[in-house]
Amino acid sequence: MIQKLTLTNFKSFVALAPRAKPPNRIVTPLTEPEGVTVQFGGLTLIIGTNASGKSNLRDALRFLHGVARGYSLVEILGERAGPSGEPQWEGIRGGVLEAVARDSSPPGNRFALAVETRVVAGGQAAVATYRIEVEVGERTRIPQLAYESLSLSSEKYPTFHTEERTGSEQIRVRYRKRPSKGRLGPSERIRSDQPAVTQLAEHPGCPAAVTSECRAFLESLAHLLFLNLEPTTLRKPSFRGQRSLGERGENLSSVLEAICSDPMSKAALLEWLSELAPLDVTDLDFPEVDQVGRIQLRLLEHGGRALSAESASDGTLRFLGYAAAVLGTGPARCYFIEELENGVHPNRAYLLLELLRLRTRAEGLQVIATTHSPALLDFLTDEDLAHAVLIYRVGNHSRAQRLAELQWLEEVRKHASAGQLHSSGWFENVAAILASEESP
Ligand SMILES: Nc1ncnc2c1ncn2[C@@H]1O[C@H](COP(=O)(O)OP(=O)(O)O)[C@@H](O)[C@H]1O
Ligand SMILES: [Mg+2]
Repeated sequence: MIQKLTLTNFKSFVALAPRAKPPNRIVTPLTEPEGVTVQFGGLTLIIGTNASGKSNLRDALRFLHGVARGYSLVEILGERAGPSGEPQWEGIRGGVLEAVARDSSPPGNRFALAVETRVVAGGQAAVATYRIEVEVGERTRIPQLAYESLSLSSEKYPTFHTEERTGSEQIRVRYRKRPSKGRLGPSERIRSDQPAVTQLAEHPGCPAAVTSECRAFLESLAHLLFLNLEPTTLRKPSFRGQRSLGERGENLSSVLEAICSDPMSKAALLEWLSELAPLDVTDLDFPEVDQVGRIQLRLLEHGGRALSAESASDGTLRFLGYAAAVLGTGPARCYFIEELENGVHPNRAYLLLELLRLRTRAEGLQVIATTHSPALLDFLTDEDLAHAVLIYRVGNHSRAQRLAELQWLEEVRKHASAGQLHSSGWFENVAAILASEESP
C-alpha cells in the first residue's frame, strides 16, 4: 500500500516556497525547496482540470514501479525491450529530457521522488520511506543517480543511503552492517545508472537484513497496475489458467473464468452484473472459441439468449474489466485508473464506485483513480471525499490538496453534493483561492 508520495521538480510538480527546515545533508541532499506531497487512502479519487498534473502524478508512480521492476534509470524513463526486441516497458511520457521540471527556480537538472509504503520485512509490518533523486542534465549523458535512501520505521538506522558520486558511473553507498542495532558500515561503490535499492537487493556482500528490507520495499511497489482498459482487448479470447489481467484488459475471459470457479465470487459477480441495466445476465460461461483452446466470455441472459464478448457493449466489458481486476486473484495490489467514468453510464457509475469501495476495504487492495465525472463524485461517501485529492495549478506548477483538509468543505457540503460542487466549478474556485494565497 502506497501511503504518501512527494514529487520535487518532477514535471509540473515544483515547489515555490522554500523549505521550512534546512535540509539535512545526509537525508535530503537536494537543495531546492521540497515539492508537493500527495497522500493516498484505500480508494483515492484524483480530481482536477485538464493539464493540472493528474497524469504527471501517474508518471511518478510509474517511475517508482519501474524501479521495482529492476530496470535501469534510462530504461525506466526511456523504454525497455526484451531480448528479442519485444517492447516490455513504455517508459515515461516525455522520456528523459522532460522528466525534470522545465521552469523550477533555481533551474535544476535533478528531480526527486519520495514515497512511503507499507511493507512486511522479516515477518514484521513497517512503513518504508524511500527517496530517489535523479540527475538528467545534459543530452549526451545518461540519467544518473544523485541520491537514494531507504529506511524502515521498525529500524533505528537507515537500511542504506548513498553518498557522493565517484567518477561518472559510480556512487558510494553505505548500508547497515549488522542486524537491527548495527550502524552504517563503510561506504562501497555501486553503479550510478541503476537504482541502488535493486542493486543492494541482489548484493552478495550485504547482510541478510539489508537485502530483505530492500526486497520488501520493492515488493510494495511491484504489484501496481496502470489500467487502461480497451474494449477490443477485453473482447479477445485468452488461454485458460491466465490469472493476471493486463493493463489494457488482456486475459479478461480467463481471469473471469477463474473468479467464477469459486461459487461465492461468481454469485457476487452476477449480482453486480444484474444491476448493470439493461442487461439481465443470469450466468456466464467460457466456451473454447479456437483451435488452440482459447476461451471467450459469454453472457447468458434471461430467456436463454447468449451474448458473446464480441457483441457485449463497451461499457459492460469495462465494468467486467474492473470487476476482474478487483475480484480476481491476480498479483496486482494497487490499481491506477485514468478517467474511471470512461464508457460507464453516469447512472451506473455508483455501481463501479461501490465495487471499488467494497474491495479496497479488504486489507491490502488499493485503487487510485482520476475522474472528471460529477455523477461519480455524487456517490462519494464522506470518507471517500476525505481521501480525494484536488490537483490544481499555481501558474505552471501543480499543487495537491486533500479535500478533507479544506476547511470550507464541511460547510458547503450541507448545501450541495460533491457532484454539484464539481459541476458548478466550486473545486476550481477553491483552487484559484489556494493559488492566490500562495502567489507572491
Ligand atoms: N517537464 C515539465 N516541466 C513543466 N511542466 C511540465 C513538464 N512536463 C509536463 N508538464 C506540464 O504538465 C501538464 C500536463 O499534465 P498532465 O498530468 O498530463 O495533465 P492532466 O491533469 O490532464 O492529466 C502540461 O501542461 C505540461 O506543460
Ligand atoms: Mg491526463
